[in-house]
Amino acid sequence: MARRERHLVGLDLGTSKVAAIVGELTGGGEVEIVGLGTADSEGIRRGAVINQEAAIASIQKAVEAAELTAGVEIDNALVSLTGTHVKGFNSRGVVAVAGRTREITRDDVRRAIDAARAVSLPNGREILHVLPQDFVVDEEDGISNPVGMSGSRLEVNVHIVTGGTTTTQNILSCVNKAGVNVREPVLEQLASSESVLTPDERELGVALVDIGGGTADLAIFERGFLWHTAVMPIGGDHFTNDIAVGLRMPIPEAEKLKRRCGCALSALVGDDETMDVASVGGRAPRTMARRILSDVLQPRAEELCHLVWDEIHRAGYEKSLNSGIVLTGGAANLEGLVQIAEQIFDMPVRRGVPAGLGGLADHIVNPSFATAVGLILRARRQRAHDVNQAPRRGIGMLTDLVRGVFKEFF
Ligand SMILES: Nc1ncnc2c1ncn2[C@@H]1O[C@H](COP(=O)(O)OP(=O)(O)O)[C@@H](O)[C@H]1O
Ligand SMILES: [Mg+2]
Repeated sequence: MARRERHLVGLDLGTSKVAAIVGELTGGGEVEIVGLGTADSEGIRRGAVINQEAAIASIQKAVEAAELTAGVEIDNALVSLTGTHVKGFNSRGVVAVAGRTREITRDDVRRAIDAARAVSLPNGREILHVLPQDFVVDEEDGISNPVGMSGSRLEVNVHIVTGGTTTTQNILSCVNKAGVNVREPVLEQLASSESVLTPDERELGVALVDIGGGTADLAIFERGFLWHTAVMPIGGDHFTNDIAVGLRMPIPEAEKLKRRCGCALSALVGDDETMDVASVGGRAPRTMARRILSDVLQPRAEELCHLVWDEIHRAGYEKSLNSGIVLTGGAANLEGLVQIAEQIFDMPVRRGVPAGLGGLADHIVNPSFATAVGLILRARRQRAHDVNQAPRRGIGMLTDLVRGVFKEFF
């Protein structure tokens, strides 16, 4: 394999940071992280471009830093998408099995998926993902791969993710203008789920919440498949703002204080714990009770958890989460967040840290990099699939869509 082909690149466009990660495939099919670059995310807010020039510059900065550490040029990447413009819903497609032998072929699967995606979308929306959940062959349901089975009627259940066309195009065009081709846009929480969830959790039922600076992105898995996605407009920056307002300090100071001393559950903070707080206007630092800070943070943490719970409840999955809830994204670093979430959800909650890669692993073992690492893992899976499918693709039977769907699915 040429050196260039061994490299997989994930580009995470978050509200807080742009992260570019370069992975290198080793002989054994593992991936080593060989490059990492981050930049403050300027010009992008909640997944939408608000200043094109600034957004392009941030992307370039992160990409150049990653290129420098990896010693390779980045020309294409899997790119994360998020934002309140992203919506997910379930759909279903039914076809009659075509062949005389009634043996289900990939072509039947493709037609069933085409039927499922043929929903009328409101103007200005486009499909980002069509993710098959399971198949029904005649009366038999819960089938994960029907190819080769016999039947006369094939039905597929899918989760469709759509995005606002303009918002999506604007963000992808910034990536292009920064000199990187978009191999595939990937829903943020779908990417994160690759790096923080275990196959068991996905099988038994789990909700992943990726909490970034501006949004909390939810994905619900059960029986190994994705059933529900949602994006909620609340993130770590709301906690920082509350501190800035509540303790009257500039945002950058509030951010530092949150990371250093913040706790989302007041009950975890001792009465006698104190913290030094920088003052404005050159005055001497103040010493304050740490409880004052947690009293500011706790209501916001409660609001966030209730918002997530309402969404899970509205979608009807509250009884499906046998593996509980996994919190990831930079804001999941906040001390006490897992504990308060456990109290509110009344189920097991854990912090999801990206795993599955070697190399510069120390730097990326942080919930903040869940998405970027997940993009690399997804790219690896697709690469492995491409290699396995190479002879069949030669026949030219699979359209891009189906290739994409099979990549997502298997
Ligand atoms: N140690 C920490 N404690 C509390 N919050 C944190 C900590 N580290 C990062 N955060 C918060 O995480 C958020 C950024 O999340 P991240 O997933 O890195 O970004 P993005 O918004 O780009 O998806 C910010 O609001 C930041 O304040
Ligand atoms: Mg993020």
